[in-house]
Amino acid sequence: MLELETTLHAGAPAFQDNRAFMRAQLTRVSNAVGRAHATELAFTERARKHEKLRPRERLGLLLDRGAPFLELCALAGYGMYGDTDGSFAGGQLIAGLGFVSGRRCLVIVWNHAVKGGTITRVTTQKMLRLQDIAKKQRLPIVSLSESGGGNLEGGGGGDPWGAYAFVEGGVCYCQQAELSAAGIPQIVVAHGNATAGGAYHVALSDYIVLVRGQTQLFLAGPPLLKAATGEVASAEALGGAEMHARVSGTGEYLAEDDADGIRIAREIVAQLPKPAAGALTADVEVLAPLHDPEELDGIVPADAKAFYDIREVIARVVDRSRFLELGRELDSGTICGHAHLGGHRVGIVGNNAPITPNGAKKAAMFLQLCDHSGAPVIFLHNTTGFLVGVEPEERGQVKHGAKLIQAVANLRSPKLTLVVGKSYGAGNYAMASRALKPDFIFAWPTARTAVMGGAQAAKVLQIVAEAKLARSGVAMDANVQAMLDERARAIETGLDATSDAMYCSARLFDDGIIDPRDSRKVLLLALETCLEAEATPRFPNTFGIARF
Ligand code: COA
Repeated sequence: MLELETTLHAGAPAFQDNRAFMRAQLTRVSNAVGRAHATELAFTERARKHEKLRPRERLGLLLDRGAPFLELCALAGYGMYGDTDGSFAGGQLIAGLGFVSGRRCLVIVWNHAVKGGTITRVTTQKMLRLQDIAKKQRLPIVSLSESGGGNLEGGGGGDPWGAYAFVEGGVCYCQQAELSAAGIPQIVVAHGNATAGGAYHVALSDYIVLVRGQTQLFLAGPPLLKAATGEVASAEALGGAEMHARVSGTGEYLAEDDADGIRIAREIVAQLPKPAAGALTADVEVLAPLHDPEELDGIVPADAKAFYDIREVIARVVDRSRFLELGRELDSGTICGHAHLGGHRVGIVGNNAPITPNGAKKAAMFLQLCDHSGAPVIFLHNTTGFLVGVEPEERGQVKHGAKLIQAVANLRSPKLTLVVGKSYGAGNYAMASRALKPDFIFAWPTARTAVMGGAQAAKVLQIVAEAKLARSGVAMDANVQAMLDERARAIETGLDATSDAMYCSARLFDDGIIDPRDSRKVLLLALETCLEAEATPRFPNTFGIARF
């Protein structure tokens, strides 16, 4: 394989400009994430008063020391449902890929520092995504739970728990049952309040750890019970750990405190079956990229129209920057080739331009090769979409685009997606965006996802509006023109704002925004998760684990 060359110079002004732009975008992201952490820190005193740990303290005790942890969907709900600055970002769940007792797990810590860990629509959507990951990657789910159930605030400007969201929330419980039947173990520590939906999250788990003096697990807590029937009861009598351990049988392990509960959860994970040995054996020797991954933040220019070569990204991600490119002479806008990541075979599809008919044909054929050889595929988005015009249409643009989407959708080997820059139109689908169900999808802060660029959309609608006015015989004067211009500006601004990386990540179009410099590490962790899944034994049954 050829070692990719670079034309980037870290000392050059253009590189420094790109880096300054990327760092500014990264600061926006880290500020929002930082505010969510600050919300939790501000909760410390209340947690201590109740002799409890904060959510991230619980997380720290659960995870193996020194092992990697990749947080997922940290910005879920950012800017939504009353969140203005990230203080409530995360959808009341702190979740990620991590290691517990040496086993790769999907870890979920309920963030009781935000609205008592109550469930909004974002919580539900994030949970659904996490469950999908666990199912596909055969990952045990370890959940450190503390949730007041459904968020009843309603209204709040965004209908966080309207009827639709309530019904959608039920899918989480359906999937918990399906996961159990599929042989995906779910381990939960009921650290505190578990009301209504919070209670079902616990009760539908296969292993339940109760915490003495802290678990409060009930269908209706004291306030709801009083409102519903007038009955007055203490939380301990209604759903304390002792009651469940000794009387109701809704829990099998009785812990003394938060830390003890987490210790028990770790022991439960330790007795689960392990993936077959050798699942992660590298195909070739692992070699660091020849070009420095630290330079990944100096590639994307601030000017969205400026060209950059996606091979510069590939050169800083793959082993020894080696890339066996295919069909270079056929099309230069869609880049396809084989490489190794952490010693594992991968195929890579990236964009340097709109996807042409030849680019679509080449990529579709390349994906068949990857499918044929079981090579996982990494998609690197940087496209304004499929090429438009008479000539590409005559060359079968729609047909070849459809074929590419077909190849992506039906690819059997793992799909990992990284949205580097633009991800517009059907090019978004063809490059394995969320819609095409990749195993994992991450974004750089420079990612832009939309049906098209704001300026183009405004222009399209301007032409449509002008044609309509002409048909209706309305004369174009200065007033009409001003009205059309104003409308065009609104469309452009609106579309550009909703294509922003943070806007999209808040809506779970990706599994998280990452620092470009971490791309190799993040993609490798995701890749190994997929590779290990195939070697993880499962023992499905018909009904899941029911407690009697
Ligand atoms: N919906 C919306 N917000 C809720 C809520 C709910 N169901 N339950 C609690 N909150 C909010 C509180 O208003 C408070 O908000 P703030 O931080 O802006 O002041 C925050 O969550 C913490 O609640 P608080 O009661 O102060 O904390 P706590 O730790 O003492 O108790 C709960 C937390 C969840 C145990 C308690 O508030 C409770 O029992 N809530 C009712 C739960 C319920 O009946 N749910 C029914 C679901 S169908």
